[in-house]
Amino acid sequence: MYSTKLAGLELEDPFLIASGIVPDVPEFMESICKQYRPSAITTKTFTLNPLNPHHSPTFIKIGEGCYMNAIGLGNPGIGELREVGCRLFVSIGGSSKEEIIETAIRAENLASLIEINVSSPNRRNYGADVSSSVREIVKDVKSVVSKPVFVKLGPWDNVVELSGKALDGGADGLTLINTIKGMKIDVETGKPILSYGTGGISGRCIHPIAVRIIHDVYREYAPEIIGVGGVFSADDALELMEVGAKAIGLGTVLIDQGYQSLTSIREQVKSFLEEKGINLSSVIGSGVKK
Ligand SMILES: Cc1cc2nc3c(=O)[nH]c(=O)nc-3n(C[C@H](O)[C@H](O)[C@H](O)COP(=O)(O)O)c2cc1C
Repeated sequence: MYSTKLAGLELEDPFLIASGIVPDVPEFMESICKQYRPSAITTKTFTLNPLNPHHSPTFIKIGEGCYMNAIGLGNPGIGELREVGCRLFVSIGGSSKEEIIETAIRAENLASLIEINVSSPNRRNYGADVSSSVREIVKDVKSVVSKPVFVKLGPWDNVVELSGKALDGGADGLTLINTIKGMKIDVETGKPILSYGTGGISGRCIHPIAVRIIHDVYREYAPEIIGVGGVFSADDALELMEVGAKAIGLGTVLIDQGYQSLTSIREQVKSFLEEKGINLSSVIGSGVKK
């Protein structure tokens, strides 16, 4: 009733943790795996070599359940990736196709799935800046790894077109959506609060954007989708499933309300299915007219 299959992987349930949320400390990740049993933890985005995060402040609250971050893909480099006792979806990025390919090769061993991040708004020349080559990037990554490859895209006007290119390149699925670029000004100084100037908005305020984008992409191609974006409740998760998401990545909710929200959202979705006497598979895409 409650399991889901994603690119050939059997997931006990559809809930996993989105990229960049669990701090990159293997012992801590291991304890989150044991205690909350996410179907997978998506790592923060790894690059080939270490990248320093931007200077603080890198994470600010901008409203109830809404945040803006510009951590800037700070990470210790793919060589530091470790096993953590549960399934890892390894997020990778780079400033060139060659860097992304090399990072994918090094990630594959510990990854159940590789997620290529071509959508972070928080570092010049990375993430969103390489998205125009997404077809070639995916094609070449697929030619060197055998694990499923997903592509993470952002909430842009051309997201349906980019999704098509990623799928055309051979992507096994898509992760939708990353944060949306914003800016917040300190009115006393007239300067941006985040040191980077801009940041990625996440949480409750982007949920309707995620619903719309997943809907539009699913209607066009019906691909495998990990739905991410402002999921704070069972209803939010069900909405993303009804417009086509097969699995749900929880992000900001875990920072705002704690990791136990994974358990409560999971239980409420289970109750919803039980009360209706339906399987999860019958929910997926049920709200999309073809
Ligand atoms: C603090 C923070 C760090 C993040 N780091 C990454 C990252 O390294 N790579 C990535 O693809 N997405 C990253 N994201 C984006 C999330 O994975 C997710 O796509 C986005 O926050 C929307 O989901 P949410 O509203 O549930 O948080 C980050 C988000 C936050 C809040």
